[in-house]
Parts: sequence; C-alpha cells; structure tokens
Amino acid sequence: MSEKVPTSDGSGSRADDHRIVISGGASLDGTVRVGGAKNSALKLMAATLLAEGTYRLANVPRITDVTLMSDLLRATGCRVAWDDRADESTLVVDVPAVIEPVAPYEIVEQFRASIVVLGPMLARCGEARVALPGGDDFGPRPIDMHVRGLAELGAEFETRHGYIHASAPNLLGATVLLEFPSVGATENLLMAAVRAKGETTIDNAAREPEIADLCELLSKMGANIEGSGSSALVIQGTEELHHADHRVIPDRIEAATYLTALGITGGEITVEGARHDHMFMLCQKLGEMGMRISPDSSGIWAFAGRRLSSSDCSTLPYPGLATDFKPFLVALLATADGVGIVTENIFSGRFHYVDELRRMGADIRTDSHHAVVRGVERLSGAPVKAHDIRAGAALVIAGLGAEGETVVAEAHHVARGYHDLAGKLTALGADVRLD
Ligand code: EPU
Repeated sequence: MSEKVPTSDGSGSRADDHRIVISGGASLDGTVRVGGAKNSALKLMAATLLAEGTYRLANVPRITDVTLMSDLLRATGCRVAWDDRADESTLVVDVPAVIEPVAPYEIVEQFRASIVVLGPMLARCGEARVALPGGDDFGPRPIDMHVRGLAELGAEFETRHGYIHASAPNLLGATVLLEFPSVGATENLLMAAVRAKGETTIDNAAREPEIADLCELLSKMGANIEGSGSSALVIQGTEELHHADHRVIPDRIEAATYLTALGITGGEITVEGARHDHMFMLCQKLGEMGMRISPDSSGIWAFAGRRLSSSDCSTLPYPGLATDFKPFLVALLATADGVGIVTENIFSGRFHYVDELRRMGADIRTDSHHAVVRGVERLSGAPVKAHDIRAGAALVIAGLGAEGETVVAEAHHVARGYHDLAGKLTALGADVRLD
C-alpha cells in the first residue's frame, strides 16, 4: 500500500500551477470510463469515523478533494492509504478505537464537503470541533440546516474563533423536517441518527444517488435505515456499528461532462460505467436538444451528428436537473441553435463562469438566477479562468467546440473533482493538454 495519497490531476504531480490547453475543433469518438463519484466517496470516507476498524472503499477517484478528506481523517487519528495491489482505485481507511473529533481550519477551508464530518464525530464522540467551511465561489453556502437538524437530536452548538464547538453526550432520535432538501444536511443528520438513541425521521430529505450510496454503506455497517433514495428517511439508532467494505457509485457529474462535451463537438461515444437511471433528466434534455442517447450494457451510448437546438433548463434537487450540470449546459447552449433560458434554483451565485464564456464570444445575459443564452455558430478560443470545479470543466467543454486555442487557468479547481480529465478527453480524440 502506498502511504501517501498524492494531490493529483492524474499525472501524479501537483496541479496548482497547471493550465489546461484545448485546441478546439475535433469530434469525440470512442469509449471513456467514468470514475467513482466524488460526492459519494467524500461522504463514505466521513462515515468511517462512526466505527473502529478497517474499511476498503473501492472505485474512489484520485482527486484533490479525496486527498483533503484523507488528510482530515488522518487529523482525527485514522490511517489512510491507497491499496496499490487492488484492481481498481481502492482506499483503505483504518479507524482507531479512539478518534480526535477535530477538523482543523487548514484543511476545512480548502473544501466545503469537510462539514460532513460533524455528524459522525458527534455521534461517535459526543462532541466535535469543526472549522467553519470555505468552499466554492458560487454564493453563500450556510450550514444552518445542518445545525438546526442536529440540535433537534439534542446537540448544542457554540461558535468560537472560527470553529463550531458541538456537544451531545446523548443524541436522541427526533423528527426533523428540512426546509430544503439539502444534500449535506441530510448526510450529516443521517450519520448522526444512525447512532442516536431511538427513531429519527428526516422529512424532505435530499434524494441524490450519493445519499442512497451512503445509506448502503451505513446499512452494511449495521445501521437500520428505511426509505433510502426517498425523501423520508427513518432511522433506528444503534450503538452496534462496525466497519465494512464498499464500492463507490459512478460519478454522474463526470459522465455528464463527457456527454455535454459530445453535444458541442459532435461524434459518438460510450461512457462506460455511467448509470442512465442516475441522470435520466439530463439524458432527456440532451435528447430534446437533438442528441441520440440511450443506456447500453456497459453504460450510456450517445451520438451527436448536427448542431444542437436550444432548450430551456431549470436546476432542481434530484431527480431534477442537477445544479452541477448547469455550467456544462450553458456552455452547450452557447453554440446551440436558438435561445435557451437557464434558471438556477439551488445556488444564488452560480453564474461567475459566464463572464469567462463571454470572453470566448458567447452571447449570454444574466439576471439574478436566470441566464439567457443566444447560441452563436462558433466560440473563439481565449485565455479564461476556472472559478470552481464545474465552471472549469464547462470552460474545457466550451474550448472543445471553439475555434483556436483556449487556455483555462487555475486548473487546480478542476483537479479537485476530476481524475485526468485532459487524458480522458484526449483518448476520445480531443486535443487537450496540461501546461
Ligand atoms: N443551504 C442552506 N443551509 C444549509 C445547507 C444548505 O441554506 O444548512 C442551501 C445552500 O446554500 C444551497 C442549497 O441549500 O443554496 C443546497 O445546498 P446543499 O446542502 O444541497 O449542497 P451541498 O451539500 O453543500 C452538494 C454537492 C455540490 C452540489 C450540491 C447540490 C458535495 C460535496 N457537494 O453540496 O456539488 O452542487 O450538493 O446538489 O456533495 C460539486 O461537486 O462541484 C458541488 C458543488
């Protein structure tokens, strides 16, 4: 096993200084394999804190956020390492009998998903000290629902010197109604409730496939959860949790990256390992725009033979169109035939990358949480900057369809969520390299 989990964009070297250089114009053809879901793997890693022992998590993507979560687990006393002998990317987490329930600022400020250690730390130790999260550049991302929900289970909170100090010597089951189906709040509550005394109901829970994946690992660990994948989760708490092994579900957002890229370049691809049932709404939307797309035995097959037609898109909690797909769709609409109105219903400020797309010749007007995208025949390559993971990927997608060279700076954002995006697109016939 290798001790070090490297900060990686797939090349094995640090990605902070990298730029992604795309020469547009090539069509995509062939098969690309999708990795494990970032937004599942990070939560599964947090869940290991609930019980002592050795966990083998297969299909974990080798991305920066996994490195950061590994560092966070190490800060609590866990040992974390890749199993180099395993057939697929497997992370081994060794959780000691006693953990230190602290998430230090130096790690937390680098990625927001770190807040999901709050629930498991509280449940295991009766206390937690977690730095207030930083995160992406798309508007305020409060954690009031996490805190309110955990308070319903008996936790008490204080914020001092940038840290949340939580204590709950005895978590008690309760009924929690979330005012919005927040992914992170659902996960934190779930991981606290599995060890709370008695029954907890989470109403208006988020239904994302990554939450069902978390329920599956927790159930293997001995948790008693009903309603997985639905908006009403009923949990009977138990002290008897134990370690378990698990395989991470495929990353639907990575899969969406290749499918929307195909919409811009044209061609025919198979996204091996992708789950059509996890991204039905996106596939339907791409079909509406003129792509042929269907599940096959190995994943999702798609064909784009002509310029796509515009369509309106609105983001919604799962099973609606994911907010994470939206930057890709905006890039796609930028060269589609007609006008598309895109409405963001999840995050208030998630349109920053639009200024970058405009630099490439896109005709996009934004007004609060709406964007009006008038498709142009062709974008023109330009130097642009990635502000977050998905915005960076959207600029790469735009670059694939643009005339000339696009240089995406601050590519470390992309490496937070993608393993070797450049290599995978190159294998499909695109001209993409790291600089
Ligand atoms: N919200 C609150 N209060 C809370 C929690 C959330 O007001 O206590 C608001 C947020 O500000 C936002 C909305 O509720 O407006 C939804 O937030 P949610 O909690 O569902 O999002 P999250 O858990 O912070 C996860 C993903 C995001 C993805 C969103 C929405 C992870 C690590 N992150 O974030 O993924 O966009 O759900 O589906 O799972 C990404 O992968 O690049 C990414 C940003």
